[in-house]
Amino acid sequence: MTDREKRLAWFTEARFGMFIHWGIYAIPAHGEWYRSHAQVPVEAYQKYFDRFDPKACDIHQWARLAHDAGMRYMVLTAKHHDGFCLFDSKLTDYKSTNTPAGRDFIAEYVEACRDEGLKVGLYYSLLDWHHPDYPKYADKFHPMRGNEAFKDEKINFDRYLDYMHGQIEELVSNYGKIDVLWFDFSYENLSGKAWRAEELVSMVRKHQPDVILDNRLEASGEEYGGLLGPSPAPAAGDFVSPEQSLPQGCILNYEGKPVTWELCTTINNSWSYMLHDRSFKTASFLIHKLVECVSKGGNLLLDVGPDANGRIPLESVYALYQVGEWMQRNGESIYGCGPALDLPRPDWGRYTRKGNIVYGHLFEEPIGPIPLTGIDPAKIRFVSLLRDGAEAHDGSTALGARKKKDTRFVSLAASNNNTISLPDPSDTVLKIELAD
Ligand code: GLC
Repeated sequence: MTDREKRLAWFTEARFGMFIHWGIYAIPAHGEWYRSHAQVPVEAYQKYFDRFDPKACDIHQWARLAHDAGMRYMVLTAKHHDGFCLFDSKLTDYKSTNTPAGRDFIAEYVEACRDEGLKVGLYYSLLDWHHPDYPKYADKFHPMRGNEAFKDEKINFDRYLDYMHGQIEELVSNYGKIDVLWFDFSYENLSGKAWRAEELVSMVRKHQPDVILDNRLEASGEEYGGLLGPSPAPAAGDFVSPEQSLPQGCILNYEGKPVTWELCTTINNSWSYMLHDRSFKTASFLIHKLVECVSKGGNLLLDVGPDANGRIPLESVYALYQVGEWMQRNGESIYGCGPALDLPRPDWGRYTRKGNIVYGHLFEEPIGPIPLTGIDPAKIRFVSLLRDGAEAHDGSTALGARKKKDTRFVSLAASNNNTISLPDPSDTVLKIELAD
């Protein structure tokens, strides 16, 4: 096992985490890119800093929700692109402890995660639209891009990098064990060396030898960076982080070996709180996508955006509770599971696998008995429903099954030829035990 594989062991076991985008941008409620999209000058954005006081914010509730949804880790935006910090950094005044809130939310967060037994992840933006030494006029994303007032401005980018490295050092030294560091993101010539990435990673590893890193010191959410190539450098990170697009299959490196990946996606269509975005995904949809990630060897990092009062929107809370109910009964088919590489995708859903147990995720009921597609019937020891342990009876005498000797059929109906409603309409899981 490589060091990278050792570090990643808990992560591939966990499979499901909560991403949280939260900062003063929850007040304008137009998303965390608001300053850039609307090209808001820093002075005009100050009013949100001056009134940031989320009295209803109880991070223990967020962590409890993640735990109850069956998630095993969380990742919170310690600093997003607007540069506002949720922690008490000694290197800036632009931090939550200086707002009316007067709170170090990262300190509250790490404690809440640990109380709920969740691994602790921190997101840190490499971009910074507040720091005076970050490129402005010619930068593609900066709110002041193309603004003549900044055309001839002299900046000292190394001073920004010292600041960025210094803040990351604060995060990895002042808050106990950090399990995931989620950097975001590289673009154009700002990638790898330009961030002094190797130096950064060796500093991080000195304080937190086991922390796992995403790949964005070298990549964006659409690229892979060095992780897919031969002997990836430490700054290539530990896992690939596709964004808002579920990969078509396992992600393979240059030798055709699967690499560790995590899909990050939003519960509606926005990372942070967005007043007008009511397109919340249903629990059923979320369960299907979580299963799909696992069936392709990936994790799901599902994002919610608490509002300006510090509350996670009710629509998200309801959906996550339902996902949690399903996870309580069926989590065994997710945690520590991966793809069933030797089996084709069945018509009725997907397979996940752990050792000699294959989990058949029935997303929809077939008409007739259920074929255990692709599995050698001679190898099957027992088939049951994961939710209640009930035996899934033999369906091989039903119409459509009795002439097919190469496939094992099961039936959940009282009579073999009946079609039934699945006990769990989102995903009824068959536990298929195979001989060693
Ligand atoms: C992007 C966006 C961002 C979000 C992130 C999550 O790169 O810039 O707002 O934080 O993706 O993956």
